[in-house]
Amino acid sequence: MSSVFYDNGAGHTVYQFSDLVAGDGIQSNQFLLIHGDHAALIDPGGQLTYQPLYAAISRLTIVRHLDYVIASHQDPDIITSLDKWLLYTDARVVISRLWARFLPHLVPGYIAGESDGRIIALPDSGACLPFGDSEIIALPAHFLHSVGNFHFYDPVSRILFSGDVGASLTDEEHARPVRDFDRHVKKMQAFHERYMVSNRACRLWVDMVRSLDVDMIVPQHGRPFVGPQMVGRFLQWFEQLQCGIDLLGPNYYRPPRRQAAASA
Ligand SMILES: [Fe+2]
Ligand SMILES: [Fe+2]
Repeated sequence: MSSVFYDNGAGHTVYQFSDLVAGDGIQSNQFLLIHGDHAALIDPGGQLTYQPLYAAISRLTIVRHLDYVIASHQDPDIITSLDKWLLYTDARVVISRLWARFLPHLVPGYIAGESDGRIIALPDSGACLPFGDSEIIALPAHFLHSVGNFHFYDPVSRILFSGDVGASLTDEEHARPVRDFDRHVKKMQAFHERYMVSNRACRLWVDMVRSLDVDMIVPQHGRPFVGPQMVGRFLQWFEQLQCGIDLLGPNYYRPPRRQAAASA
């Protein structure tokens, strides 16, 4: 089922799909942006989501004519359905230059030619991707969590698609905005402490986001942060988060006890 996150009544619509992962896969959100005759998919996922996502978006746009398939980073829940999007659409694929060179590992040899000239390898500084008479802005989000990582800002809806930043593990109603921030922190804390690299990256990212006009922060897992109060609470929390290498100590780098030694 899709949720409409934004519709300006003039041809610009943002959809979230949040219940396509069946079985043991971690819940994840996929996004479709439509601007007039143009369409872009953000973080379409892997083999678990390809078929249901294709079916869902075929009711909303001509899938073959997608402008972009956009990947915030290289993870399995982000872009491992790449081979199928290359084969069954004319979309260009957008990803960090650090990961573009690894994409051929996802594409079987017999369709390798499909990727020729269709990969947009983003420089570390990001880029503005033309999108009809608008654009999609690729914002640097490196080390949050991948080494080559981007978030995507839609200046029409003022939605920031924040990949794994702001991700939460919630049981249901993944499109429902966060209401009680303090309770919600419990659903984000452990994930961010382990998957984000350092507080330095968090603070630099928050400074960048505060320079933009952001109405919603929409992560790739769990619920969105909607409105100035919730966006502000999230930025406050994230800029002081100790995570990744901030929390490392010598105990992280000890060889595990060997079985024979442990029983001696
Ligand atoms: Fe990830
Ligand atoms: Fe993820």
